[in-house]
Amino acid sequence: MIITLQKLFTCSKIYLFPVLLVSALFTSCSNDAVNITPPKPEFILNTDDLKDFKSWPLKASFLSVKNNQWRKIYLKLPEGGTVVDGVYPQGTVIVKEIHSGVNITDTILRYQVMSKRGGEANPKSDGWEWILTKNDITKVVSRGGNQTMVNGKTCVSCHLGKKDWVISTLQ
Ligand code: HEC
Repeated sequence: MIITLQKLFTCSKIYLFPVLLVSALFTSCSNDAVNITPPKPEFILNTDDLKDFKSWPLKASFLSVKNNQWRKIYLKLPEGGTVVDGVYPQGTVIVKEIHSGVNITDTILRYQVMSKRGGEANPKSDGWEWILTKNDITKVVSRGGNQTMVNGKTCVSCHLGKKDWVISTLQ
């Protein structure tokens, strides 16, 4: 009699375990489904979006004495987006135009662009994408995360430590 009861107990445990597991899974899945808010989709810059950048607000136009280059910085905020405590909203695009010499009329060497993709993109630099183009802004040389480079240095090597990775005061 005792043996039979023990057997029954062991068997019921064996059968009960998967039943409990499956029901636990269902319970946790249904709870998760209720609580999760889908992440905001990333803002993925299309190079065509850059074509009209000259019509964006020009935030700086200056001679970099250190580099003997004239530079301009254009900023585009997304519609309705604002900078909060120096943090730029998802969808922000900043274009830096680099001229070959000290005059504003000197030919353009290249453009360096920062685009705030947000979402799941590049959390190592708070969702910024780093983009290097030729003197034609739609001709991308490289774009991506913290490994993106110019002149043998990563973009982030200079931008690291600045508020939201932005060096200039643009506001
Ligand atoms: C050698 C250091 C250095 C590297 C490398 C560098 N930057 Fe910058 N960047 C600067 C400095 C300094 C400024 C401030 C404006 C100026 O003096 O030209 C700046 C400004 C900018 C701006 C204007 C917004 C701001 O932060 O002021 C953009 C956009 C930008 N850089 C993009 C890039 C991208 C993209 C790369 C890589 C492809 C890159 N930078 C690599 C030093 C650097």
